[in-house]
Order: sequence, then C-alpha cells, then structure tokens
Amino acid sequence: MPKKNKLVKAWVNQHVTDHYVHMAAKDNYRSRAAYKLIEIDEALNLFKNVQVVVDLGCAPGSWSQYAVKKVGVNGIVIGIDLLEITPIHGLEFIHGDFTTDEILKKLVQTIDNKQVDLIISDMAPNLSGIRGVDQARGAYLIELVLDFAREYLKVGGNCIIKIFHGGEFDNLVKLARSLFNQVVIHKPSASRSASSETYMLCKNKI
Ligand SMILES: C[S@@+](CC[C@H](N)C(=O)[O-])C[C@H]1O[C@@H](n2cnc3c(N)ncnc32)[C@H](O)[C@@H]1O
Repeated sequence: MPKKNKLVKAWVNQHVTDHYVHMAAKDNYRSRAAYKLIEIDEALNLFKNVQVVVDLGCAPGSWSQYAVKKVGVNGIVIGIDLLEITPIHGLEFIHGDFTTDEILKKLVQTIDNKQVDLIISDMAPNLSGIRGVDQARGAYLIELVLDFAREYLKVGGNCIIKIFHGGEFDNLVKLARSLFNQVVIHKPSASRSASSETYMLCKNKI
C-alpha cells in the first residue's frame, strides 16, 4: 500500500475508535474539539458573568456551539473563520481572515462598543510543511490575538489561545504575561498526545 494511503487508513482508524469523536456525535457537537474547551471551562468557570464572546478560528463550530449555550439568549457570540460554516443559531459569523484590516474592522463593528468578556482562539495556520515558516505564521496569529485582547478585552477578562510548542513559545508566553495577571499552559485530555498543541489560559486582564 502506498505511504499516503497507509496514513489515511491510520487516521480513519484512529477517528472511528476515538472516544471524543463518539461523544461529539452523541452530544451533537460538530467536532471533538468541543471537549478541549469544555475541560478548560470546567476548570476555570470561564463563562461566569460572560455576555460577549469572540471565537477566533471557529470552523466547523463546536466551540461556538458550546459558547452560545453557555451565554444564553442575552449573550453574544461572534465567530470568525477563513472557512464558511453551516450557520449556528445565536452565532454572529464573520467569514474571512482575522489577520486582515478588513475583517478586524468588521469584527470591531460587530462588537459595536460592547465590552468583550472572553476571547477564545483555536486558530492554527495552514501548514506549509516548512517548520520555520509554520512556526512564524503560528506566532504571528497569537501576537494578533494578544493585540486584539489588549485593545478590546475588558479589564479582568479572560483569553484562551491555542499555541504550539517550539519557535517563539517562550516569547509569546512572556508577552501574554505582560497583559494578564495569570498565564497557565494546559494540554486538555482531548488534545491528541502526538500533537504539540497546548493552550495558553490567560486570566484576568490587567
Ligand atoms: C482547529 S480549527 C478550529 C476548530 C473549532 N474550535 C471548533 O471547535 O470547531 C482551526 C481554524 O482556524 C481557522 N483559521 C486559521 N487561520 C485563520 C485566520 N487567519 N483567520 C480566521 N480563521 C483562521 C482555520 O480555518 C480553522 O478552521
């Protein structure tokens, strides 16, 4: 069997036997990623008194589904992604690239002078396969999320950001620590052990 087919077969095998894939199907989440946010929320009580949430890199939408449920009918969840998504009732979706001025402007207009209580970012760059390039792209996304938090997240607000080990990791954590009272690195159980992804839990914006 060609190497590529073997890899696809291994992925399919892993997917059909994966506990979180089964749970997502049962709980009607669009992706197993939901359980990463749920675990973080259960530890930090992220949605307490939260009305306005910005979900960066929200497709296919499981974090947004969870956020919409948590904020209730009076809350607002705004999601952004490069990819289109099937609409989610209660989600204000912006289709486009968060790194562009045009989409940032749309986001700011949608926020409409309200305070952002919580930012959740599961964005990951499209991989080129060139390690240095991918690390630089990932770091750039995180810097922009932190810039956005500096500008629009309320004082005392929280921010969850996906971050990969390597490259600019230490500098990004340092940058986050200059903006938040507490920054903890956490790898949820639903995050595959083979992946270098972790999450920066940035609590209590200064
Ligand atoms: C791991 S997925 C997010 C899964 C999502 N949290 C969920 O629960 O369904 C990462 C997403 O980030 C998006 N993304 C990456 N770079 C982006 C950018 N510059 N602007 C907007 N979305 C971006 C990708 O298109 C992808 O859909």
